[in-house]
Amino acid sequence: MNPSTTPPLSPHTTPMAALTDRAWWEQVYADRPRWDIGRPQPAFARLAEAGAWSGRVLDVGCGTGEHVLLAARLGLDATGIDIADAPLHIALAKAAERGLSARFLRRDVRTLTVLRETFDTVLDCGLFHIFTSADRDAYLEGLRAVTRPNGRLFLLCFAGPQPGTPDRRLDATSLSERFRNGWRTDSIQAATLDSRTDAAGIPALLLTATRT
Ligand SMILES: C[S@@+](CC[C@H](N)C(=O)[O-])C[C@H]1O[C@@H](n2cnc3c(N)ncnc32)[C@H](O)[C@@H]1O
Repeated sequence: MNPSTTPPLSPHTTPMAALTDRAWWEQVYADRPRWDIGRPQPAFARLAEAGAWSGRVLDVGCGTGEHVLLAARLGLDATGIDIADAPLHIALAKAAERGLSARFLRRDVRTLTVLRETFDTVLDCGLFHIFTSADRDAYLEGLRAVTRPNGRLFLLCFAGPQPGTPDRRLDATSLSERFRNGWRTDSIQAATLDSRTDAAGIPALLLTATRT
């Protein structure tokens, strides 16, 4: 393709192939993306403040680290992983600014088995829904490897298609189907994802599952 006709990369229009591309995620954070709201998602904040998170906490696709830093503020052992360095540098700077101790690692969740660590609480805000079916298999294999028996997963994903994002929507049935092997689905609730570009928030699903 002639470079002059190549559409510019933007966090507001997501080329389908780019979602698995580390370079794309690095670039997205040069221009603050719509999901980077500078505070935890309210659905996760409510859970954390209510004591639902415990022990060693891992946030997969942690972005600039708001959920990791929330866990750290609550006194939990907190780790965030992301495929890109750019958000992790921002997360580290926030941790230093706020005087919080948390660990941030560049890792691809699809190869998480190599981490050789286990966690009591695993968080995913906005990652699972970007993956193709094959990537979801690799993601689930990694997640099963790092979650202790009886460990809990809290996952927030789009409940419907979003403009500029490939339609890989999940409904409650397909979500619980995906988490049948190695997990017990405790609940799937309607939720909202706050966004810098949608005042009303984005319709979402909140999955809570326990590792069997
Ligand atoms: C929609 S953003 C959500 C970020 C963060 N959870 C939040 O709520 O602000 C998805 C994040 O997943 C990261 N990501 C994408 N593919 C990944 C992969 N294969 N492994 C780990 N992180 C990935 C991206 O770099 C991005 O930070």
